[in-house]
Amino acid sequence: MKPTILVTGGTGYIGSHTVIELLEEGMEVVIIDNLSNSNLEVLDGIEDISGKRPHFEKVDLRDRSSTFEVFEKYSGIEAIIHFAAFKAVGESVEKPLAYYENNLLSLIHLLEAMKKYGVPNLVFSSSCTVYGEPDSLPVTEEASIKKANSPYGNTKQICEEILQDTIESSPENGVISLRYFNPIGAHPSAKIGELPIGVPNNLVPFITQTAFGIREQLNVFGQDYNTPDGSAIRDYINVVDLARAHVVAIRRLLEQKQKSSFEVFNLGTGKGISVLEIIRAFENTTGQKLNYRMVDRREGDVEQVYADTAFANNELGWKAEKGIEETLLSAWNWEKYIRLKATT
Ligand code: NAD
Ligand code: WQD
Repeated sequence: MKPTILVTGGTGYIGSHTVIELLEEGMEVVIIDNLSNSNLEVLDGIEDISGKRPHFEKVDLRDRSSTFEVFEKYSGIEAIIHFAAFKAVGESVEKPLAYYENNLLSLIHLLEAMKKYGVPNLVFSSSCTVYGEPDSLPVTEEASIKKANSPYGNTKQICEEILQDTIESSPENGVISLRYFNPIGAHPSAKIGELPIGVPNNLVPFITQTAFGIREQLNVFGQDYNTPDGSAIRDYINVVDLARAHVVAIRRLLEQKQKSSFEVFNLGTGKGISVLEIIRAFENTTGQKLNYRMVDRREGDVEQVYADTAFANNELGWKAEKGIEETLLSAWNWEKYIRLKATT
């Protein structure tokens, strides 16, 4: 029997790449998404790539009864991957209640449904943002959780606490929280990728839009960090590598005999790369000259953060494989694909 996996936020950026990997593993996929930050065309891209179309339910997870109806309709869901959330750090400062409502209520409704319908397993999308400015590098899963520097970051910390408390009272459940570092890039087919609405906040979409001529110039935030070239350092992880980690996590939960577990894994490459190095790698791999200038630091940014991946590598049996140039090229190919599609 093929296991059935419920993927919330499955038409979103990381969710859609993960759905492909699950389908390619022969799993049955049911997506819940309210399309607040994605669109239905993503399902065509998924079908083009994998040859399979996942089940799709347009449901808002803030609505408990509609969420429960999905569990009634698809009996036999064995695990959930919970991507659905609001994720813009700046917006969360302006609209904190919307972030607390969406990100906390969605998780609570899923946990209630797990109990009511006997679904034992959950993989949660967490973030390296929970570490804030780390005391030492690379960051291990044991590093202390700092006070969140945005309501968004706080929702991730609170969600992890909710999961931990719930697990302690539900011995039949297993939960894996995956702390992503900086996911970038797109599927190598260029048929799915990241779709930022409006002006991108994140570095790589800003780079590809600048190279395409949609933005005039990239601002590099900060040139006086205590790093070799003065720009900030991050751990950029290819979205397909990241998606594969979810399949491994799901398999681990499905095979687990002893439940009542709450495990946390860092998902990164283990390698810190500076903003200026990203620009150079992008120029090298695409042949595009990027118009950029150095400006002041962006408020709230940490100087450097990259993962200690030993636990994920050894315990989960997963490792990031794709190099930075291949990843940046995939982002560039996706940018060209969507712009071309918009004009035809
Ligand atoms: P995304 O916005 O592309 O995908 C999230 C999806 O969830 C969207 O399709 C949106 O429509 C849906 N959604 C949001 N609220 C919903 C609700 N109440 N009910 C139903 N659907 C809802 O984001 P992403 O980049 O794919 O991120 C996925 C997850 O990973 C999020 O939880 C995010 O916080 C986390 N994360 C992302 C990053 C990153 O840089 N992209 C880094 C660390 C963690
Ligand atoms: C990367 C680097 C910027 C844009 C965010 C969230 C984090 C997680 C991942 C969800 C930084 C610099 C950026 C630009 C620049 N998301 N930059 N010019 O801030 O590391 O992490 O996404 O959980 O919570 O905070 O990612 O892509 O915004 O920035 O110089 O126009 O690029 O200063 O050093 P960040 P990012």
